[in-house]
Amino acid sequence: MIIKTTSVSECKEHTITDENVYHQRRELIKKMGFLGAASLLSSPASAGILDIFGEEKTPEALFAQNNLSYAAEKGGFAEELTPEAKITSHNNFYEFGVEKQQPAALSQSFKVDPWQLKISGEVENPLTLGYDDLYSSFDLEERIYRLRCVEAWSMVVPWIGFSLAELVKKAKPTSRAKYLAFETLYDPVQMPGQRSRRLGGGIDYPYVEGLRIDEAMNPLALMSVGLYGKTLPPQNGAPIRLVVPWKYGFKSIKSVVGIKFVEKKPPTTWNLLAANEYGFYANVNPAVDHPRWSQASERRITTGGIFAQNRIPTLPFNGYGEQVADLYSGMNLRKYY
Ligand code: MTE
Repeated sequence: MIIKTTSVSECKEHTITDENVYHQRRELIKKMGFLGAASLLSSPASAGILDIFGEEKTPEALFAQNNLSYAAEKGGFAEELTPEAKITSHNNFYEFGVEKQQPAALSQSFKVDPWQLKISGEVENPLTLGYDDLYSSFDLEERIYRLRCVEAWSMVVPWIGFSLAELVKKAKPTSRAKYLAFETLYDPVQMPGQRSRRLGGGIDYPYVEGLRIDEAMNPLALMSVGLYGKTLPPQNGAPIRLVVPWKYGFKSIKSVVGIKFVEKKPPTTWNLLAANEYGFYANVNPAVDHPRWSQASERRITTGGIFAQNRIPTLPFNGYGEQVADLYSGMNLRKYY
């Protein structure tokens, strides 16, 4: 699944800059209109996204430079990619409305820079990542994954991101850290679904999710910052979202602002809403039906839905069993759905 990787850690010593200092510097650079002005500053790591030559880059330029541009790898993956236009126009992001087309329509002015992702809780090394840190702190990779929604549609997405395991290692969990609790931004001014129960589907916001720490350490778990060689569009969870390809899509929480390492299993949004329908684990499992519909098969969102001939069998763990089944050995997956 891993298509391309690039190491930024060897390019520069990463330091996480005090947010105020960093933004002042960045504004200054913008005002000066300098490309490469970063090299004039005393600490190159503190001035935005720098490439291996110390040049300041936009995320897209950085992706392209490192060949994380899907186009280069087209044809290298057995499954047909879902077209970009479909991935970015058929969304579940209730903060911007419950209808599939609403997130793309209602999120275009969503402001993602500046951003703060706080890593806290049971860790020796709490961190706050600013907007540029999301693109420069970890080795970015391009990965093509299937995404299977609990509503029985699926797609194939070329993501760009970094391994969640790398973030966990950087945070240095204490021995008490057993789970990761994720949280989406709470900003009712920007997110209409958080202001209106009708638009927001009656969810209590912020949207929250969780993983067991060994799940978070599995190499497949990805923090995504882009797709199709570009930064994530708002409707897909800009600027950073989780992608857990062996679990139903609702685990892949969008626009993340907090990851807290905790001792006890954290609450999760869909489980709070309907515990008998949505479990904490939510591993894709064709043998365990949702109370209101079968999970035995699915349709790619590019094919017409209701006809049986368009449906394809759903695979245990969404086809990633070889990489993840061991995480659940000995567990009754009907009980822990
Ligand atoms: N994250 C937040 N914050 N809010 C949401 O409503 N929906 C989830 C998940 N992450 C959701 C979310 C669901 S149900 C799915 S299927 C996927 O996002 C959809 O991701 P996509 O729109 O990029 O396909």
